[in-house]
Order: sequence, then C-alpha cells, then structure tokens
Amino acid sequence: MPKTLTRYVCQQCGRVAASYMGKCPQCNSFNSMVEEIVHDEGPAKYTNSTARGLGGRTSPRKIGDISVEAEPRIHVPIGEFSRVLGGGIVPGSIILVGGDPGIGKSTLMLQMTLAMAGKKRVLYVSGEESERQIKMRADRLQEKNAHFPEDLFLVTETNLQTILEHVREVKPDLLIVDSIQTVYQPELDSSAGSVSQVRECSSQLRELAKAQGVSVFVIGHVTKEGAIAGPRVLEHIVDTVLYLEGDRFQAYRLLRSVKNRFGATAEVGVFEMRENGLVEVPNPSEVFLAERMINVPGSAIAVTMEGTRPLLVEIQGLTSPTQFGNARRTPNGVDYNRLMMLAAVLTRRVGIKLVEQDIFVNVVGGMKIDEPAADLAIAAAVTSSMKDLSVRADAVLIGEIGLAGELRLPSQMQTRLREAQKLGFKTAIVPKRLRKAEPWPENIQIIESRSVYEALETAFSIERKAPPKGRQVA
Ligand code: TYD
Ligand code: MG
Repeated sequence: MPKTLTRYVCQQCGRVAASYMGKCPQCNSFNSMVEEIVHDEGPAKYTNSTARGLGGRTSPRKIGDISVEAEPRIHVPIGEFSRVLGGGIVPGSIILVGGDPGIGKSTLMLQMTLAMAGKKRVLYVSGEESERQIKMRADRLQEKNAHFPEDLFLVTETNLQTILEHVREVKPDLLIVDSIQTVYQPELDSSAGSVSQVRECSSQLRELAKAQGVSVFVIGHVTKEGAIAGPRVLEHIVDTVLYLEGDRFQAYRLLRSVKNRFGATAEVGVFEMRENGLVEVPNPSEVFLAERMINVPGSAIAVTMEGTRPLLVEIQGLTSPTQFGNARRTPNGVDYNRLMMLAAVLTRRVGIKLVEQDIFVNVVGGMKIDEPAADLAIAAAVTSSMKDLSVRADAVLIGEIGLAGELRLPSQMQTRLREAQKLGFKTAIVPKRLRKAEPWPENIQIIESRSVYEALETAFSIERKAPPKGRQVA
C-alpha cells in the first residue's frame, strides 16, 4: 500500500510545512498555505525531476574537452524583444514571461510567433483561450489580407503529457505554453496552478528543452493572492526570466529581464499597446519626456530600484496654504512618515516654510516607492511647487536625505545612472561620493552635492548652453 502524506505548501514562495499555518514563516504572506496530498511510492517517479539526467546516463568530462562553439541564436524580428533576450533566443533554452493578467503577455507571444513562423516551426499551446479566439486575435495583429504562415500550429490543451505528445508530433523549434498555471501533470494530485504542479510542469518542459533543443516560452501570471502559484517559484528552474509590466490603464509596457543565463540583465524593452497589438518604442526617452509636462513647477524624476530593476518615475508635489488649522500631508505612492520627515528637513535645514502648507505628493503611474533613494526627488518636487520654480528637465535626482539635511549615497548607483542615461537624461544630481568606488558612467553629467540645499540649488539652475562653435577656445 502506498503511504499517503499530507503537506502544506505556501503558494507564494513554495515553503513546505507539516501542518497548516496561517502565516508563512518564510515570505510572511497570510493564508497562502494549501494542502497537498503526496503519495509516497518509494522512489517516486515525478517528485524529483531535477535529479533525473537530461536524457540518459551522465558522465563527468574534463572542462577543457567541452566545446563551447557559440550556438547561433534564433533571430527574433522584434528588436526590443531581441535586446531584452540578449540578442535572440538560445536554442534549447526555457524562458519565463511573467506579468499581471491582462498586461499583454499572450499578445506579445502571439506577435512573436507570427513574426517567426515561416522561418521556424512554432507550436502555440494555450490553456486559456480556444484556437478560434487565438485565430481572431492573430487576425487583428496581422496586416489585412496577410496570409498565415504554414508552420504555425495552435492547440488548446492543459494536460502536460498530451502537450509533450504534440511536441513529438509537430517537432517545433519553438514552443509557447500559455500559461504555466493552467497546465497540469495528471500524476500529481494537486490542482493546476499549485506550486507543485507549476514546478513539476516547468521542470519537465525544461528537460524537453534541453533534450530536444526546443526553445520553450512559458507564460506565468503574477498574482497577489495565494490561489495560484506565482512565477517566483519557477524563476530558478528557467534560464531567462522576463517581466512585462506597466499600468493597465496606460499604453506603455516595459519588458524587463530579471535573470538571463545567456546575456546581460537589466535590459529593458519598451512597447506601446495599440489596437493592433504591441508596437515597439525604439526611443523611450523621447516618449517618456513627451508624456511629462516640462518646465512646470512641482515635478521631479527619481530613479528607484525594484529588486534588481531600475525604474524612472516622475514624482509630483503640490503645496497649498492650509485652510483649516492643521497642515495636511497627503502622499500617494510614498510613505506618510517619510513625507513628514522630508517636510521637516526642508523646513529646518533648507529654510522652506512648509508649516502652514498642505502637501500633496503623487507618484505618477500608480507606482509605490518605499526606497529612501527617492527622497531627493520628493523634496525637489515639493520645493519646486512651493517656490514656483521648475526642476531642470534633463535631470534625475537620486539620494537619501538625512535628518541633518545631508545626502547619502544609495546602493547600485551604476545601474540607476545607466537606466537614466538609457532613458535619455543628461544630468544626474547625486550625493557626493566620499569613498573610492567604480567610476561614474560616461555619457551622463554627474553633479555631486553634500547637502539637500546644494542639490536643490543645482536642480533649479538653468541648464547652461554650450558656447557657440566659432568662439570656443581650443
Ligand atoms: P493579453 O495579451 O491577453 O494579456 P495577458 O495574456 O497578459 O493576460 O492582453 C490583454 C489586453 O490587451 C486586453 O485588455 C486588450 C489589450 N489589447 C490591445 O489593446 N490591443 C491588441 O491588439 C490586443 C491583442 C490586446
Ligand atoms: Mg493571456
């Protein structure tokens, strides 16, 4: 008789516990533990797929004997996408495309397959939409009367074993699985979307990729609730992790790579969602600057880090004389206490009288910032509104503010500055670097300041123009 065990698995981080817990001790999320039944049948067939060799017996080899001839990458005709992948798809790799539901993951994948088919055999497996629905979407994405490629196959299927059979039949170069949370391995008892299903299915897809040289794209929904396992649990299984993000009510989408075994991370691709699909934005800085009102008081650009990902955000500030007694501080996307502290520092150390002013701070795009590195930008936005002076339009402001009005250097300055430069900013107002470190990146002017006072003076100065060519002294 096989033994039957019950265990509880956190659907957010994958922590396993013997008994139910209301709060996961590893990731601190509430009500995320779900009961799973495990059949213990001796050496289990499907519980430890990572230990199985990639097709047959393995044997150790000398490192010098292993050839590393650069495998040609599969060209991706969408430039922004290709860049994020590190210059194309590595054959036999498995790539996770994560993002909120409705952000455009299926659209991006379908556009890629439409563009690739004709050159590569593609199998698109969907567990979310019927073949008709996908065809209708493809019709919308294609130009009018364009004929569909011969070697693009669609199937609606969620059983992993059937999917693997389809792969054996179709023999595609590229397999898309939309989404990993709908796929299930029938030999496991837990429901589709649970941590063990998601892990097991992606491990098997990885083996398929490595053994047969098929490149696999796996779509994963990011979820805040515990019901469906998030893509976090399979980040370590796949070779490359891409996230598609953006405000669902705004048109812009950022595709970021957070992990890439075959290229540099911190790559970002920018797209715009139109009625006929995602359109590349080759010059995001222009778009970004165009969206923003330039030379208007009460706006500053901060560079924050989201994990390992840098992100440029516009911070808006507004001050208005208090009407009824107590001055109010109303932050949106910024911590309330942090704003109180920044207002106090501005009042005491910079001499800006905010005592009888209501202060509103808004992070554009609905972002939440909990990083002190955005302090300087918040302070600049508030001061800018108060003084009715605009912050210079080509500058980003990075720096943590201390109680004495001093500026402190946040971590990962190189990454932040590179992102600012990538998005077209010419100047960065940053804390003075007191210790030896990597040189500042080139192509962006760095202005170091010891204090908030100094930094704000720089921020409100007018951009100096280069002298006319003829009069330049050699
Ligand atoms: P979708 O790719 O289905 O999102 P996901 O797979 O990440 O859940 O995209 C859904 C949204 O994209 C939907 O709200 C409509 C919008 N959309 C467009 O605006 N234009 C288009 O051409 C397409 C196909 C979708
Ligand atoms: Mg989808």
